Amino acid sequence: MGNTSKGAISMANESAKSAAQNKNIGPVILLGPPGAGKGTQSRRIVEHYGVPQISTGDLLREHVARGTALGLEAKAIMARGELVPDELMYGIVACRLRELDCRNGFVLDGFPRTAAQAGWLDAFLEKAVFENSQKCPLIVIQLLVDYNQLLLRIAGRRSCPTCGRTYNIHTQPPLRDELCDVDGTKLLIREDDREEVIAGRLATYETQTRPVADYYRAQNRLMAIDADRKMEEVTAQIFGVIDGHC
Ligand code: AP5
Repeated sequence: MGNTSKGAISMANESAKSAAQNKNIGPVILLGPPGAGKGTQSRRIVEHYGVPQISTGDLLREHVARGTALGLEAKAIMARGELVPDELMYGIVACRLRELDCRNGFVLDGFPRTAAQAGWLDAFLEKAVFENSQKCPLIVIQLLVDYNQLLLRIAGRRSCPTCGRTYNIHTQPPLRDELCDVDGTKLLIREDDREEVIAGRLATYETQTRPVADYYRAQNRLMAIDADRKMEEVTAQIFGVIDGHC
């Protein structure tokens, strides 16, 4: 492709991004098993639409790192690959959703994870004063990925403890072995990405989180997409879903 065409495409992308930044996208839920790409795709939604990512996994890991009462309770549960009790989740999610940056929409990554959490969220959004968000209804995007592919993705994931960037030794390796491209920090394997925990996390998804998909399907708010493709292809389809629903 010539430089002129490349320049034209890049300008078109920039102008699409700038239009997207002023848009109210409402609540977007990314639903999918561990390793489906919720975190990866959430970060792309954040960059494109300028809305915050609310990752309950990240919020919990922050509590664990700070040694709060919630963190102390959650630490062992997370290390076993089980779910933190619903009642402990509601406070942190409610607190985050009340922040001003959520008024043009937000992307939820890892919540809701039980049918009870989904019912709680519906009630919360109905009560909360999201003047702008109300214009654009909640949408749930389910990421479908083959089981063996999930195992590979989780086993290959590495994270930078300094900047939070995620890599994958199979599909997205860092430039230098096990070191972050951005700040050179040694990359870590997440505590719950250990082989003996992974199968349990995937089983927990099947028993406790799959009903969440049924819950939203019954409300006609679920859009399932094939996420077993290149990241860019998945991102393009997600943007299409978001742009098409409001
Ligand atoms: P959480 O942090 O939410 O983890 P998870 O749901 O298990 O999801 P992951 O972070 O493992 O995967 P992901 O879908 O974000 O994939 P990623 O983008 O990183 O939760 C952790 C724990 O906290 C839970 O087990 C529970 O204990 C607790 N918790 C959290 N929320 C809770 C709640 N609501 N209620 C109760 N407890 C809760 O991608 C994975 C890898 O694949 C990466 O290496 C990436 O580079 C790669 N990759 C991504 N997309 C592609 C692609 N298209 N092609 C190739 N590789 C790809």
